[in-house]
Amino acid sequence: MDSILNRREMIGAAGAAAVGLALGPTGLAQAAEGASGGYDALAGAYDAKAGEYVLPPLPYAYDALEPSIDAQTMQIHHDKHHAGYVKKLNAALAKLAEARKSGDFAAIQALSRAVSFNGGGHTLHTLFWTNMAPKGKGGEPEGALLEMINRDFGSVDAMKAQFSAAAGAVEGSGWGICGLEMAAKKLIIIQGENQQKLTTWGVAPVLVLDVWEHAYYLKYQNRRADYVKAWWDVVNWKEVAKRVGAHAGM
Ligand SMILES: [Fe+2]
Repeated sequence: MDSILNRREMIGAAGAAAVGLALGPTGLAQAAEGASGGYDALAGAYDAKAGEYVLPPLPYAYDALEPSIDAQTMQIHHDKHHAGYVKKLNAALAKLAEARKSGDFAAIQALSRAVSFNGGGHTLHTLFWTNMAPKGKGGEPEGALLEMINRDFGSVDAMKAQFSAAAGAVEGSGWGICGLEMAAKKLIIIQGENQQKLTTWGVAPVLVLDVWEHAYYLKYQNRRADYVKAWWDVVNWKEVAKRVGAHAGM
């Protein structure tokens, strides 16, 4: 396994992102500024000078992912929904700062929940936009990433089948997530509910799929499975490979 992903890369890339929000703004900024490996996407998620999380721009035009995802959905999803998470995350953190000053932690449960929900949403959406690319631009799993997928799932088709089933079966709103599990250093697939529930600690997301209705309802209505199927056409496998450290020559 070490030939595929060494310990330094584990900590430098996946680990930094996994613990970024747990460490707060400083941790995420360090993850973004340092050798952030395949998590370069997070560099645009926080403004260290302003001391605030920010909405990173989409790395492509609103219509770039058509026909898999329509332009109107992308615009509303990014400009309204994702922006909302950023705004509420900053607001919750500001209120926590006030609470520390006053010593009044009466709202600690609501504020902690707000940080978890909106912080989770901010990170996952930032990773989501960048693990997609226009059809034909994202490549296919190859090299060390392909080796890892074959080892951990049997084949790319088997990995896709499990991921599609997991994403399709998320109860209510949530995410399909493939991530790197730190102890075994293996890829696993988990479901995320809302933006923060069912988290498996120590798993750094490398490929995420938003299955909230806001991500697909305009085009697909209740046909989530059709959306998931079409989404595979716009997966950015090059970015996924970066996230698992393939860029480091493993
Ligand atoms: Fe979303």
